[in-house]
Amino acid sequence: MDYDDNEGQRKFWNDKPGQSWVTYDGVMNLRLEKITDLLFGAVDGIPASNGLDIGCGTGSTTLKLLELLGEDSKVKGIDISEPMLSKARKKFHDTTSISFIKADAQTFQFLPGYFETVISRFGIMFFDNPVKAFRNIRRAMSPSADLTFVCWASFEKNEFFSLPLEAVASFTGPVKDFEAHAPGPLAFSEIDYVKQVLNSAEFSNIDIKELETSIVTNDTPEEDAEILMNIGFGARALREAELDKSLRSRIYEKFVKNSQDRCLDGLIRYGATINLVKARA
Ligand SMILES: C[S@@+](CC[C@H](N)C(=O)[O-])C[C@H]1O[C@@H](n2cnc3c(N)ncnc32)[C@H](O)[C@@H]1O
Repeated sequence: MDYDDNEGQRKFWNDKPGQSWVTYDGVMNLRLEKITDLLFGAVDGIPASNGLDIGCGTGSTTLKLLELLGEDSKVKGIDISEPMLSKARKKFHDTTSISFIKADAQTFQFLPGYFETVISRFGIMFFDNPVKAFRNIRRAMSPSADLTFVCWASFEKNEFFSLPLEAVASFTGPVKDFEAHAPGPLAFSEIDYVKQVLNSAEFSNIDIKELETSIVTNDTPEEDAEILMNIGFGARALREAELDKSLRSRIYEKFVKNSQDRCLDGLIRYGATINLVKARA
């Protein structure tokens, strides 16, 4: 297996962060429901075709892709995270039209021209060399096949990122700045940069829309705080700061308080903004 690129991300997704996505699989899927609808609303499904889900994680969107393309179709999910893929394989072991590949989408040698529909929900922002990755993905697509994906818009427009990070920083002092375009959730937040990457990878008909949406959950503030301690930018800052137990528990209390403040009629709501991207091979 070729892991000469993306070594940092491979480690990341095979370690605690990947485990946390497995632990919170069900709740994360519920939280991302509105965004998933925006993604699949933009996919033109071709019946009886081959679909690919990049950075498929635990496979929930891979199943949705199969449902969209219909039962005579075959779909594959590709991911570098063993914990996430083993969860995916457990969930869908009896669905013969779904299979999973453990490999790096940037370098994996796909069958050329094989896929008619390619999607991703937040699985394409982690490449060390995005142009190389998207060239590789385009080669796997049949002529005129469509790629549709969602990625996060800027940090400031995503409260699910900014509120927990600000909460952690209020205890620890300023946290490390993000490097523009570095592999990570915000790598594709600038629309012009995404266009440039897809153009360089020779995609055509590139269409990118910034859409405001929200992440809504009926979890309790305590459950919400627990998730934010493990997933997202607050969790990352906590990991990097290596804080003692008592400071962690004060930060947890602050997360709970933030969630309580955002809770209305039993629902906690975070403003979110995504880029919905379509391009043709
Ligand atoms: C934010 S998670 C999203 C998972 C899934 N798409 C979802 O929405 O539930 C990002 C996923 O991309 C995967 N990933 C990161 N870099 C990758 C690469 N180079 N090739 C394949 N998968 C990758 C990670 O392992 C992880 O499962």
